[in-house]
Amino acid sequence: MEENKCECGCNGKDEFLNSLCEKYLPIKDNLIQILNEVQEHYGYIPMNAQKVLSEFLNVPMAEIYGVVTFYSRFTLKPKGKYNIAVCLGTACYVKGSQKIMDRLKERLKIEPGETTADGKFSIEETRCVGACGLAPVFTVNGEVYGKATVQLLDKVLDELSK
Ligand code: FES
Repeated sequence: MEENKCECGCNGKDEFLNSLCEKYLPIKDNLIQILNEVQEHYGYIPMNAQKVLSEFLNVPMAEIYGVVTFYSRFTLKPKGKYNIAVCLGTACYVKGSQKIMDRLKERLKIEPGETTADGKFSIEETRCVGACGLAPVFTVNGEVYGKATVQLLDKVLDELSK
């Protein structure tokens, strides 16, 4: 019988997870760094990856889930082709960013953390993205749109929907 090279819990079935288990030492301190790589690779943190990491790092699943849901950069569902994030940090909020979020939800018919059925758009709430001078701000795949208005959002959505 062929011996499995990987001892981390993925049984060598997932090449990417296998490579992470070879790259990192199995210590809890590496959890965030490994989750960053998983998020970047898959676009979200799949349940299977949480199970593998739980076994590899000897960290309970509930703790991994807690970390994934605490940090906004991690998501449990795949993001859309265009991920639109509205800043609800103080500077943006007082300049009306909630109106932009409301319009976004109304147009795409999804809530923050969700992705449209066609996989094209996802939306999320963020806290300060470091562009308070341009408040209110939203981003599309990390590109900042400052001095945002509902009209600007509509224009961007129309453009991306083509
Ligand atoms: S509060 Fe929105 S960029 Fe700082």
